[in-house]
Amino acid sequence: MKNILVTGGCGFIGANFIRYMLEESGFTGRIVNADKLTYAGNPENLTDIALKSSTRYIFEKADICDAKTMSAIFDTYDIDTICHFAAESHVDRSIAEPDAFMRTNIIGTFNLLELAKSRKDKLNLFHHVSTDEVYGSLGEQGFFTERTPYDPSSPYSASKASSDHIVRAYSRTYALPVTISNCSNNYGPYQFPEKLIPLVLLNALDGKSLPVYGKGENVRDWLYVKDHCIAIRTIMQNGTRGETYNVGGRCEKKNIEVVETICDVLDELVPAQASRRGLITFVKDRPGHDLRYAIDCSKLETELGWKPQESFETGIRKTILWYLKNSEWVERIRSGEYQSWILRQYA
Ligand code: NAD
Ligand code: DAU
Repeated sequence: MKNILVTGGCGFIGANFIRYMLEESGFTGRIVNADKLTYAGNPENLTDIALKSSTRYIFEKADICDAKTMSAIFDTYDIDTICHFAAESHVDRSIAEPDAFMRTNIIGTFNLLELAKSRKDKLNLFHHVSTDEVYGSLGEQGFFTERTPYDPSSPYSASKASSDHIVRAYSRTYALPVTISNCSNNYGPYQFPEKLIPLVLLNALDGKSLPVYGKGENVRDWLYVKDHCIAIRTIMQNGTRGETYNVGGRCEKKNIEVVETICDVLDELVPAQASRRGLITFVKDRPGHDLRYAIDCSKLETELGWKPQESFETGIRKTILWYLKNSEWVERIRSGEYQSWILRQYA
């Protein structure tokens, strides 16, 4: 891997991945980040990286659905590896407005695969970053393995399932060198505050109500974002072409437990007059809300030697401390100021 094209690198996981690759992983090549800068993409997530690594980090504002622009980027930077994060990623938005999900997650992925196919002689790997939500919902028992049949519930997960199938088809039909990862819920620095953990954390700091869908009994398998980044790097480096790897934290929590933990850690770090648990408000459930996700990641552990380094207790504390320390980032995101900055820079 010399020149990696990362799509969606201004989002939550993509930005953490680029940081990890350039600063900690030992990778010595160059990363080109192609991002459309939707509401979820914030170049500020990588400002320091851009300043420090101007020869090894390049940003291109680009839509993965725009085949011509993506081809030009591929050729200009002599790309040999693609790591594909770009997506519409928020389930609730996909329920309200599914169009962009179909366009970016399905057509955008298809475009990139066509590009990769046309440059196959130059391509070392196409890594597709996907989700455990493609497997649908578990009951009280069991785990998702790589052989669990797909059964997506939301427009988001259906669009990601669709993209996974297309990636696999290009591997089988055109012998494209691909790997796929299906990961559980991530949390950590730079997560856009519409997802459960940053939303609750910031609302709790402001003394606002903490919306918990239904009875808060839905279970997610939480993974600290850096552990996901390490898993992706491990798969890209040592994974078998054509294979899928599940990634998870072996860390199942009911939503209510997650919210209560955030309240308790905040009460300890930033004492308030009353326990923040009092802000918890049970609200109308998400339609088609999957009950439980739990990943069996033994394939990744036994074949490639990956293991999560962070426990939920250490990871959530690090995350809370990061948001407390980065209040300016938070304010710019919440006020929408970062979007006017993007408009000025890239008009
Ligand atoms: P995010 O919403 O924070 O970031 C998505 C990024 O993609 C943004 O920077 C956005 O501007 C960019 N983007 C969107 N449409 C684009 C387009 N048409 N062209 C170019 N760029 C575009 O998402 P995230 O949470 O960082 O997720 C990244 C990937 O990981 C997604 O593919 C998601 O399905 C997958 N994933 C996420 C999680 C999670 O818990 N967040 C878990 C498993 C898998
Ligand atoms: O499992 C991986 C997926 O995790 C990724 O593919 C998605 O991109 C990512 O957004 C995430 O999806 P979820 O829907 O699980 O994440 P979210 O943070 O939106 O919700 C987590 C749980 O919390 C879910 O059961 C819904 C619930 N929830 C969410 C919000 C935003 C609430 O109870 N209240 C809320 O306000």
